[in-house]
Amino acid sequence: MIRNKIGDIFLSAHGLTREFGYGDTKTIAVKEAEFDFHRGEIISIVGESGSGKTTLAKMLLGLLTPTSGTIVFEGKERDISTYAKRKSYWQNIQAIFQDPFSTYNIFNTVDSVLLDCIQLQGNGHLSKEEKIKKMTESCSFVNLKFAELSQKYPFELSGGQMQRLMIARIFMLKPKLLIADEPTSMIDACSRATILDMLLKLRDEVSMTIVFITHDIGLAYYISDTVYIMEQGIIVERGTADEAILHPKSDYTKRLIGDVPKIFEPWNLDQ
Ligand SMILES: Nc1ncnc2c1ncn2[C@@H]1O[C@H](COP(=O)(O)OP(=O)(O)OP(=O)(O)O)[C@@H](O)[C@H]1O
Ligand SMILES: [Mg+2]
Repeated sequence: MIRNKIGDIFLSAHGLTREFGYGDTKTIAVKEAEFDFHRGEIISIVGESGSGKTTLAKMLLGLLTPTSGTIVFEGKERDISTYAKRKSYWQNIQAIFQDPFSTYNIFNTVDSVLLDCIQLQGNGHLSKEEKIKKMTESCSFVNLKFAELSQKYPFELSGGQMQRLMIARIFMLKPKLLIADEPTSMIDACSRATILDMLLKLRDEVSMTIVFITHDIGLAYYISDTVYIMEQGIIVERGTADEAILHPKSDYTKRLIGDVPKIFEPWNLDQ
């Protein structure tokens, strides 16, 4: 398991709740979530489909308004009430989503996706050469060739290239918190390991906090300092990867682990 130096608390949630609908059709997607995320911490949020993981991520990102509860960011209650405040919050918090095709505006070429990042960083004043240098550097970090891709549109990229482009964006923006919602689902196991490596390298470089949202309890165990397990909107288990996955307290976690009995055992090919 990967261990690292975890810093101070920089994002907390208190009683964070999000409901959808009213009356008989009301869904409590996330119910009274409580947690502290620390600098440099690697967190996994695991749960079955519909357990509220993406809803939680979207509240943290400021893309969904909580029904109740508070988010404390760097010691103060988060305020994203104006466009300028949201923009400055997004310099700190970025996401990689489940479906890379939904992330980009399809009418934006690769270079404009990356130029937006340069703008968001406050580097709009740089010369064209300096901008190209930054874009080339971030693409080569994820083994993409900027010169070949710069004029392409998102639909002209493969799923794997698209996900690499998302990570190139993250490399440029170097946010303090990265939320990765099943980021590796579209690519083969080999690229998946490479992408995880890239993200972990970034964590080491800039002490980024990374939240992985996943169904994959084996991945969560391997990669995380802290694991949260969600069931129907409620965090039912939390702790170090060892505590939450090897010694779970809740029946739900025990059942989830029971569904994947082989992950911690060597494969027995004689069976
Ligand atoms: N915009 C919405 N309107 C109404 N209900 C919603 C909306 N978004 C999510 N929900 C409901 O909230 C619950 C949690 O959904 P959410 O997308 O957070 O789950 P998830 O854990 O991310 O699932 P998955 O693993 O399938 O991505 C589900 O019951 C879902 O139907
Ligand atoms: Mg989801």
